[in-house]
Amino acid sequence: MLGNLKSQPADKILELMQLYKDDPREQKIDLGVGVYKNAKGETPIMRAIKTAEKQVWESQTSKSYVGLAGDPAFAAALRDLVLGDSVDAGRVAAAATPGGTGAVRQGFELLRQANRDVHVWVSSPTWPNHLSILKFMGQPFTEYRYFDEATCTVDFDGMMDSLKGVKAGDAVLLHGCCHNPTGANLTLDQWKTVTEFLAKTGAVPFVDIAYQGFGDGLDEDAAGLRHLASALPETIIAASCSKNFGVYRERTGLLMAISESDADKPVTQGTLNYLNRQNYSFPPDHGARIVTQVLTDDALRADWKDELENVRLSMLGLREQLAKELRERTNSDRFDFIARHRGMFSRIGASPEEVLKMREQFGIYMVGDSRMNIAGLNSETVPLLAEAIARTCK
Ligand code: LMR
Repeated sequence: MLGNLKSQPADKILELMQLYKDDPREQKIDLGVGVYKNAKGETPIMRAIKTAEKQVWESQTSKSYVGLAGDPAFAAALRDLVLGDSVDAGRVAAAATPGGTGAVRQGFELLRQANRDVHVWVSSPTWPNHLSILKFMGQPFTEYRYFDEATCTVDFDGMMDSLKGVKAGDAVLLHGCCHNPTGANLTLDQWKTVTEFLAKTGAVPFVDIAYQGFGDGLDEDAAGLRHLASALPETIIAASCSKNFGVYRERTGLLMAISESDADKPVTQGTLNYLNRQNYSFPPDHGARIVTQVLTDDALRADWKDELENVRLSMLGLREQLAKELRERTNSDRFDFIARHRGMFSRIGASPEEVLKMREQFGIYMVGDSRMNIAGLNSETVPLLAEAIARTCK
């Protein structure tokens, strides 16, 4: 039977990780997978996480099951971090998931439970795994215009124009902040326009927020989502702790589903529990428990925010430096968008051939669509990258 299996297409981002590992050159720069790295190229465990983990280890007395939706304290802590007080908690059903990807997958499953004929709209481009999961599920979707390749900014008119076909009962997938792969984000005014549009059409927003705190700050990065959730009857949110808490391998995420009223919440919550049970039963607890400890302890929370802010500022500094080096080398402001983009990624508008050339000639690894992970740089490698881009990109 297994002989019938067909080989599956490799995930481009994970494939690139391997290519980088296999490259024997000493001078090489990994701008691939979205993992934060400090100036030494390490992905450290955040201080507050390390302390919380120790505290959990010391105080935990059982590894017995928690609950199908995970620990309610985790759901409450992360809900408040993402939504603030924008929505009455009584309307928010939530279930812990294996990472943000788990929340995305379960979110699509939820949409299908609610509407067998749901049609999903996704930005073009989007995180490749969004498309891969939708295809795997056989879920119909349409891509909407999002990015202007020439200017590397959001093409908002194009976006609204290509969303014209959205109908009631459809779902529109939005990136909460730090758009992956482009780094180009909606302004708050644009979020407001999208909110009005969704209110008019009756489509449901599904917001994937995986980088809160990496862009303009924890509250700033959630402002668009909070506005949308406060104004619309229903919103679905996939939140990830992988990046902003640095707990990648612990697989820590939360799916939230905001119902129109408190009365609808029990059935929504029951559906989230049911979906967890069907797919993996109980969600992982360890990462969620550590994150809860950090968020509910004043000292740990303050320390985590402090470290996260340093991470954010270091990426902003690298963006500024790269834009400046490119201005000098190209004698133009063509790449100034890099300093205006936010989050871990920027898509720089190089062709696949140029991306390959930079890999072969300069040992620079970025995803084939020219997405680069800013955190893969440090102040010494920025000039090398700037030189490679200036010499390669037409
Ligand atoms: C990325 O986009 O690089 C990250 O979200 C990691 C992943 O799973 O693809």
